[in-house]
Amino acid sequence: MPRGYFITFEGLDGSGKTTQLRRLAATLEAEGHTVVTLRNPGGTALGDRIRSVLLDSKSEAALGPIAPAAEMALMFADRAQSIAEIVLPALAAGSIVLCDRYTDSSEAYQGGGRQLGSPRVLAMHAAACDNLQPDLTLLLLPSLESSLKRARRRNQRHVERQGTDENRFEREPDDFYRRIYDKYKEIAAREPNRVVIIDRNDSIEEIEKEIHAIVARRISTAEAPVPASIVEA
Ligand code: TYD
Repeated sequence: MPRGYFITFEGLDGSGKTTQLRRLAATLEAEGHTVVTLRNPGGTALGDRIRSVLLDSKSEAALGPIAPAAEMALMFADRAQSIAEIVLPALAAGSIVLCDRYTDSSEAYQGGGRQLGSPRVLAMHAAACDNLQPDLTLLLLPSLESSLKRARRRNQRHVERQGTDENRFEREPDDFYRRIYDKYKEIAAREPNRVVIIDRNDSIEEIEKEIHAIVARRISTAEAPVPASIVEA
């Protein structure tokens, strides 16, 4: 059984979760925790290859349209590899693992956005990930409108600076993102103990403080010694 603590960050493109993940990692490290960070897709040699196929908007020119079920299976191939290579060893060593996107992204984007439905995604999660669930998921879900604006601005800057883009998803129409947004809400309602929604339009610093408080509380509960009466029972 893993001994560490597994935290995932979720949200729409442009929700600010990557910034928050980095800040939380720095704070936890400064407090003396061992922290391992990764992102889905990517993070392993295999995952980085899969990432470039999935996210580069030129992929479809080279490969033809990617079928939704193939997209889902590639996301899970990446995830299975990162679980084996990074997540399980880190948890076994007692680290706090912070992962930028995980299976909730597949359920929201492929299940909701691409309309494959939750049951197919969750069946794949069981098959590819042995149902490994995060201990805590921080779902950054400010309004759909503000997330979309940020995502499109950011991607435009990326194209201008580097001439490359990872915007195969970000070119999707707004109703694709509406379905993702709704699916995220559904997941959070289904699993209120695991998923904490952060939906206020506060400053980066305010959200950072809120996240740190949530995580500190959860970690201290997880680390608390099991009462003797329970051990004996
Ligand atoms: P990424 O660069 O990580 O975007 P962001 O910084 O917005 O998180 O790109 C990941 C993209 O891949 C994002 O548009 C969401 C999508 N995605 C899926 O569709 N399914 C998945 O299972 C995962 C992990 C990501």
